[in-house]
Amino acid sequence: MTTTPLAERSTAVAARATELSKVYGQGETQVVALDRVSVDFRQAEFTAIMGPSGSGKSTLMHCVAGLDSFSSGSVRIGETELGSLKDKQLTKLRRDKIGFIFQAFNLLPTLTALENITLPMDIAGRKPDKEWLHKVIEMIGLADRLSHRPSELSGGQQQRVAVARALASRPDIIFGDEPTGNLDSRAGAEVLGFLRNSVRELGQTVVMVTHDPVAAAYADRVIFLADGRVVDEVHAPTADAVLDRMKRFDAKGRTS
Ligand SMILES: Nc1ncnc2c1ncn2[C@@H]1O[C@H](COP(=O)(O)OP(=O)(O)O)[C@@H](O)[C@H]1O
Ligand SMILES: [Mg+2]
Repeated sequence: MTTTPLAERSTAVAARATELSKVYGQGETQVVALDRVSVDFRQAEFTAIMGPSGSGKSTLMHCVAGLDSFSSGSVRIGETELGSLKDKQLTKLRRDKIGFIFQAFNLLPTLTALENITLPMDIAGRKPDKEWLHKVIEMIGLADRLSHRPSELSGGQQQRVAVARALASRPDIIFGDEPTGNLDSRAGAEVLGFLRNSVRELGQTVVMVTHDPVAAAYADRVIFLADGRVVDEVHAPTADAVLDRMKRFDAKGRTS
């Protein structure tokens, strides 16, 4: 499989977790969802996070994206330590620096595709960079669908709108939790292809949680979580290599 030569890639860190822990509950009902996780997400890199159900994938994503608090350790987005921010500053950072794509497309039904794409920027009172927006819309192949409402679009097209919405403000990093979980394999492949292109062609940084080895193979690297810890990492993954790694979890009696 083809990958960007290392020399062409930026080594700057878009987001970093250091000794990150997240504990839910107390005493006997305590759950350690993240256990001293340290991981870097470099700029212009596409990372997939995999692991058995309950291994802490969503928790890691939510903590690094500033959507959830953590118990100890630190998280930074670019040069900003999340732990040092007040609620308002955190909200602003999420709005200005981070793009999100969820399993449910989360589009507003009364708005057109274009209005949905620019909504976060409209709310923030920011003007979209026209050239960039045009590039994103072209790449995602939505130019002839911009005046359609979500109900007039297929699931795959709706998720492409959601990808364009995440890209529109040119965020420092995009997080997706199972972004193709609601799509059939063809529509999923399209969305994954666009995410990969946004990294290769536009230099975006993408972090995606998935349980699907085929989806993970679109990434530049896969990190594997088990019991709240990073247990392995695969570069330039193939679906087979990822599947093999997942099978080793099953052999230990864990579910996936
Ligand atoms: N709000 C919560 N309260 C208590 N425990 C939680 C909560 N959210 C997640 N957990 C627990 O934390 C662990 C990691 O969950 P999660 O990050 O959702 O895993 P994954 O996304 O890999 O399936 C699981 O044991 C889960 O039950
Ligand atoms: Mg999850």
